[in-house]
Amino acid sequence: MTTLQTSVLGIDFENPFILASAPPTARIDSIDKAFTLGWGGAVLKTITPDNLEMIEASQRYAAWRAGNKVYGFENIELLSHLTLQQWLDGIKFLKQKHPTKIQIASIMAPVIKEEWQNLVKTLNNSEISAYELNFSCPHGMPEKGIGMAIGTNAEISAQITKWVKEVAAKPVFVKLSPNVTNIAEIAMAVEKAGADGISAINTVQSMMGVDLNTFIPMPNVNGKSTFGGYSGSSVKPIGLRCVAQIRQNSSLPILGIGGISNWHDAAEYITVGADAVQVCTEVMINGYAVISALKSGLLHYLETKGFNSPSDIKNKAIPNLSSHEKLPKSEQFYPQINDDLCIKCQKCVTVCDESEHSALSFDGKKITVNKAACVGCSLCSHACPKQAISMEK
Ligand SMILES: Cc1cc2nc3c(=O)[nH]c(=O)nc-3n(C[C@H](O)[C@H](O)[C@H](O)COP(=O)(O)O)c2cc1C
Repeated sequence: MTTLQTSVLGIDFENPFILASAPPTARIDSIDKAFTLGWGGAVLKTITPDNLEMIEASQRYAAWRAGNKVYGFENIELLSHLTLQQWLDGIKFLKQKHPTKIQIASIMAPVIKEEWQNLVKTLNNSEISAYELNFSCPHGMPEKGIGMAIGTNAEISAQITKWVKEVAAKPVFVKLSPNVTNIAEIAMAVEKAGADGISAINTVQSMMGVDLNTFIPMPNVNGKSTFGGYSGSSVKPIGLRCVAQIRQNSSLPILGIGGISNWHDAAEYITVGADAVQVCTEVMINGYAVISALKSGLLHYLETKGFNSPSDIKNKAIPNLSSHEKLPKSEQFYPQINDDLCIKCQKCVTVCDESEHSALSFDGKKITVNKAACVGCSLCSHACPKQAISMEK
């Protein structure tokens, strides 16, 4: 029988869907609700030493939307506002009420050995199942020399991983930033330093836009703004690339994150190397209840394809990733026009003309393809407003 059960480093998740460290995991009562609704686990909103100052801005979000769909989301939010004691009490309460649900403690501290180790020693006695070291928040914290300031430096990342591993009584995931030239290099550095797993990605450093009446960038914080962290559907291609790059260079378990808004996105992450996935923005926009469709969709896909569990599709896409040089380039695809769907707008003709090839023409009745001029690039199929063009050999 097909199951969604997923084991990572000996930690058993009921399903591979974990809430990412963020506002949906910032309060004990709301995590309680999420567990009741079916989430397999939660990475708690990043916990810091109590004396680390955390003054939030208003507004702290901006969104790129088309119609009702939010494609991209930017935030300049900082970390948890609960005290360490509040977390300890909350973790205990949640474990008693939901013994099968997994809690992972996301942590961050200044680059001081005692600060990291004290945090870990305190949390060692709690019911968390693992740690996630936040080396990747791209706003606010780097100004204090932490967050992404750590995760963009392989040496410091390795150093802190070692400090944590010296005292950690639970497995240690390191959460990496996509805002680096080569994320695999940082992954390999923390693996060498003893990390047990990788979480990727945190948000992509961004600027959502500028109000052209006031010239204030978004989000507007009383007339000023700052660079933020970009998340949601539009970062999925970046997250997938990062996870695949890490998988190509490391055999550590990976918690895949970034733009997962449906079961299909989650399955794609697993095929490029994720063991389980984390979700944030989709939940922030649509609520915890999205877990039902995530679970039923993935289960149905696995059943239909004859797989027993998510781990059966893990890494399946990795052998199909190659260097550009080694791509099989001898055979070409050509556009096939579906005349029933085509509205003769000739957009495909225009874009092909104006982007190099002039392989399409309109004879007054239908679009025709000049195979001698066509290079099979597929631009016409993407520009067609009616999806009337498919690429075939
Ligand atoms: C408002 C907001 C707050 C976040 N806070 C944290 C945080 O405290 N710690 C952390 O590791 N990641 C934090 N993240 C990053 C998310 O955990 C996640 O890595 C990122 O949003 C990409 O996933 P998504 O596209 O599903 O949102 C935050 C993201 C958002 C949108």
